[in-house]
Amino acid sequence: MAVLLTGGAGFIGSHVCTELLGRGEDVVLLDNYSNSKQEIPGLIKAITGREFPVYEADILDDEALRNIFKENSIGEVLHFAGLKSVGESFQKPLAYYQNNITGTINLLHIMKEFDCKRMVYSSSATVYGNSKEVPFHEKLPVSAANPYSWTKLMSEQILKDLFLSDESWSIVLLRYFNPAGAHESGLIGEDPKGIPSNLVPYIAKVATGEFPSLGVFGDDYETQDGTGVRDYIHVTDLAAGHVSALDFARKNSCCETVNLGTGKGYSVFDMLHAYEKACGKKLEYTIHPRRQGDIAVRYADVSYAKELLGFQALLGIDEMCASSWHYIQNTF
Ligand code: NAD
Ligand code: WQD
Repeated sequence: MAVLLTGGAGFIGSHVCTELLGRGEDVVLLDNYSNSKQEIPGLIKAITGREFPVYEADILDDEALRNIFKENSIGEVLHFAGLKSVGESFQKPLAYYQNNITGTINLLHIMKEFDCKRMVYSSSATVYGNSKEVPFHEKLPVSAANPYSWTKLMSEQILKDLFLSDESWSIVLLRYFNPAGAHESGLIGEDPKGIPSNLVPYIAKVATGEFPSLGVFGDDYETQDGTGVRDYIHVTDLAAGHVSALDFARKNSCCETVNLGTGKGYSVFDMLHAYEKACGKKLEYTIHPRRQGDIAVRYADVSYAKELLGFQALLGIDEMCASSWHYIQNTF
């Protein structure tokens, strides 16, 4: 049986794919390359020395999905495919709902058709909305302030309802905090198309000289240095968290919701300084107004991940920035 990774050529999917191959799992990768490059599967093969089937396909295309399930024996699906920019989701709400909601429902129909009932779903800490209670634990109320967040919240609800209707499903909803960093090989990492909206890939482009300075979105929050605080988790740790979630889903019929973070919060300036250390350069910044929709502080309560999955993140922001810089230098 193989693990199907939708969006497997993307930032997180490519690292999880590498991790799974490294532990001897069979995988099948599907991607439409709307936010990734076609060379990624080849790089994963180069890192791992393993071959696996790769499909250029869209999760909205049920015939293409059906074909993948016919040609391979799929035991479970790790569902990464989706659009992920909060800002863009305001401009293109229909594209976000169609891709992230219709795409997920489509995939679930095909899974059911082939009696494949195990899924690890890529949710997001964005579903905690603007909660002021930190750290964020899984039982906090959820809310959405933008179309992207709605797609994550709705997908969670769809998966919970599916489990209620048929408890032979095994579903783990992973709420990622702020993934960052790159694979130690320097071959795969975060390479978003267009101008990055996330902090670390933006800082990386300041370090290469592509952008003159980082715009810091607000220095008047009630935090230690006035800038926003987040829980950055190394993508390698995140990949290990998926392996733990997959192991859990294989042993249990369940619908569980689990945070993947480190439990520690770092400010924008902490990240900028860590990146300066990694690249050995002073990086310029300018203070901008607060970005609409941002909150001051968000970090995870990681106790449930430890209790349920036995998962704990091991790497810190220095390793994240060093691996990001290694990747950037190696690739661009
Ligand atoms: P990414 O954009 O790098 O990867 C997503 C991949 O899915 C891309 O390769 C893209 O080409 C593909 N894709 C998109 N729509 C598709 C479709 N209709 N059919 C087939 N492939 C499609 O993003 P990522 O950072 O790797 O995120 C993976 C998942 O994790 C997403 O669902 C995202 O919402 C979620 N997530 C990401 C973050 C983050 O900060 N990176 C945080 C929380 C949750
Ligand atoms: C981090 C901090 C910014 C860019 C988003 C999504 C969330 C999840 C992760 C998918 C904040 C500040 C940023 C910049 C800055 N993705 N910043 N200048 O906003 O915590 O979360 O990505 O699910 O859903 O909302 O991440 O990396 O954009 O910002 O000052 O150019 O960096 O204000 O404090 P965020 P981020």
